[in-house]
Amino acid sequence: MQLESGRWTCIRSLFWLTQLLTAGETGFLEDHFPASVLEEAKMTTVQLLAKYKYPVETHTVTTEDKYVLQMHRIARPGAKPVLLMHGLLDSSATWILMGPHSGLGYFLYDAGYDVWLGNSRGNRYSRSHVKLNPNTDKAYWSFSWHEIGYYDLPALIDAVLAKTGYQKLSYFGHSQGSTSFFVMASTRPEYNTKINLMSALSPVVYMGNIQCEFKGLAYRFINIVEEGRELLPYSNKFTGCMMSETTIQTCLYYVWKAIGKDPAEFNKTMIPAILNHLPCGGSSNQFIHYVQLYKSDRFCAYDHAKENHRIYGRSKPPDYPLEKVTAPVAIYYTRNDYLNALKDVKRLIKRLPNVVEDHLYPYKKWNHIDMIWGISARRLAHPVMLEVMRRYEAGGPQNGTNLTTTVSPVETANMTTESVLKAVGT
Ligand SMILES: *[C@@H]1O[C@H](CO)[C@@H](O)[C@H](O)[C@H]1NC(C)=O
Ligand SMILES: *[C@@H]1O[C@H](CO)[C@@H](O)[C@H](O)[C@H]1NC(C)=O
Ligand SMILES: *[C@@H]1O[C@H](CO)[C@@H](O)[C@H](O)[C@H]1NC(C)=O
Ligand SMILES: *[C@@H]1O[C@H](CO)[C@@H](O)[C@H](O)[C@H]1NC(C)=O
Repeated sequence: MQLESGRWTCIRSLFWLTQLLTAGETGFLEDHFPASVLEEAKMTTVQLLAKYKYPVETHTVTTEDKYVLQMHRIARPGAKPVLLMHGLLDSSATWILMGPHSGLGYFLYDAGYDVWLGNSRGNRYSRSHVKLNPNTDKAYWSFSWHEIGYYDLPALIDAVLAKTGYQKLSYFGHSQGSTSFFVMASTRPEYNTKINLMSALSPVVYMGNIQCEFKGLAYRFINIVEEGRELLPYSNKFTGCMMSETTIQTCLYYVWKAIGKDPAEFNKTMIPAILNHLPCGGSSNQFIHYVQLYKSDRFCAYDHAKENHRIYGRSKPPDYPLEKVTAPVAIYYTRNDYLNALKDVKRLIKRLPNVVEDHLYPYKKWNHIDMIWGISARRLAHPVMLEVMRRYEAGGPQNGTNLTTTVSPVETANMTTESVLKAVGT
C-alpha cells in the first residue's frame, strides 16, 4: 500500500536521523573533502565569521520567562539593523554556512546593513536559562515554536533596537523563523510597529497539504516521541552519514524525501559542514506542534489535549489571529518544497492583511532550503529580497496595493552583487 510504504520510509528516515549523531571520524573525510570545509564543520558561528574577517559580536538576551539566548551580530554600527531567524533544529550559522560568496547574512552585511543573527531557545547557542538546567530540569524543554514567537522574538527585537537606537528593523525568517514570527505578530500585535518588512522565506504556517514523505510519520510521531524532551542536540562528532560514498548517498536520499529533491542546487562539497552544524537542538514539542498543524489543517496554538480547558478555556486550542499581523510581509516560496505546498502558502497569503510581495520563485526544482543554501541563491534569490526590503525601509507602499517586484528574478539572474546594488540604488 502506498501510504503504508510511505510510513516505512518515515520510520527508516527517523532511524537515519538518529544515526546522524552516532558515528566517529574516519579517513574517508580527509580523502574526499577539502580541509577548509572540514575545518568549518567544527567551527561556531563566531569562528566562521572571524575566519572570513567579518566583524563579529555575541550578545546575550534574557527573555521574559528567563531563557538566555545568544545572538550573533555582523556588526556595522549605525547602519540599519536586520534580524535573521533560522528554522527548526538550525542556528545562526545557517545564514553564513555556505560562505561569503553565498550566504544571505554576508550579502546583507556587504549591502550596508547591521546584521543580527538570532538563535532560538534550546539550540546549541541558546541552551541556557537563568534558573533551569537544560541537562536536568525537564521543565526547560516544555516549549514549542509558540514560546519562540511569544518570548524569544520580542526579546531579540527589543535588544537589537535598544542596541542600535533604531525604532524599526527588517526581519527575515526561514521556515520556523517565519512560523514563530506570525505567532509573535498575531499574539503581541504591538510588535508589528517595530518591523519595516517581514521577509518570510519558505514560511511554514498551514500544513494541511504538505507532500513531505515524513507526513505518514505525523500520525505515529506523537506516540513515539515523548513531549517536552530535547530533540537532536548538537554533537561535535562527524555523523553516520559521513562514513562512505554510500552512506552519504543514503542520507541524501532521506534529506530529499524531507525537503524536496534538488541535487543541482546542492553544493556537495559542503556536506560535512552542513551535517555537523545541523541538527543542533530543540524541543520535541516544536516538532509535535508542527504535526498538530498538519493533522488539524489549522494554524493554532499548541494542543495540550486534556489541559486545553485549563489553559485556553476551551477543548481545542485557538487559531492564531493572523488578521492582526499588520506589518508588511513579503513571502518567498518555491515549487518543490515538500514541507510547504503552494496551496497552503496561498491560503496564508489570503489570510494576512498586509502582504506586499507574493514571490513564487519560478525554478521548478527549488526546495525548502534552496533560497538559503542553493548554489544560485546569491544570484537568483537574494537580490530580489534586498530590493523589496529597501522599498519598505522608508515607509513604502502598504497594504498589498502592488504585488509586482520591479527587479524580476529573470533580470537579476546573471547580475553580480555590485550590479544589483547599483540597480536598486545604493
Ligand atoms: C561549493 O563549496 C565549495 C567550498 O566552500 C566552494 O569552493 C565552491 O565554489 C562551491 N561550489 C559552487 C558551485 O558554488
Ligand atoms: C491598511 O489597511 C487598514 C485596514 O483597511 C487601514 O486601517 C490602514 O490605515 C491601512 N494602512 C495603510 C498604511 O494604508
Ligand atoms: C506595480 O508596480 C509596477 C512597477 O512600479 C507597475 O508597473 C505596475 O503598474 C504597478 N501595478 C499596480 C497594480 O499598481
Ligand atoms: C545576462 O543575461 C542577458 C539576457 O539573457 C544577456 O543578454 C547577457 O549577456 C547576460 N550577461 C552576462 C554577464 O551573462
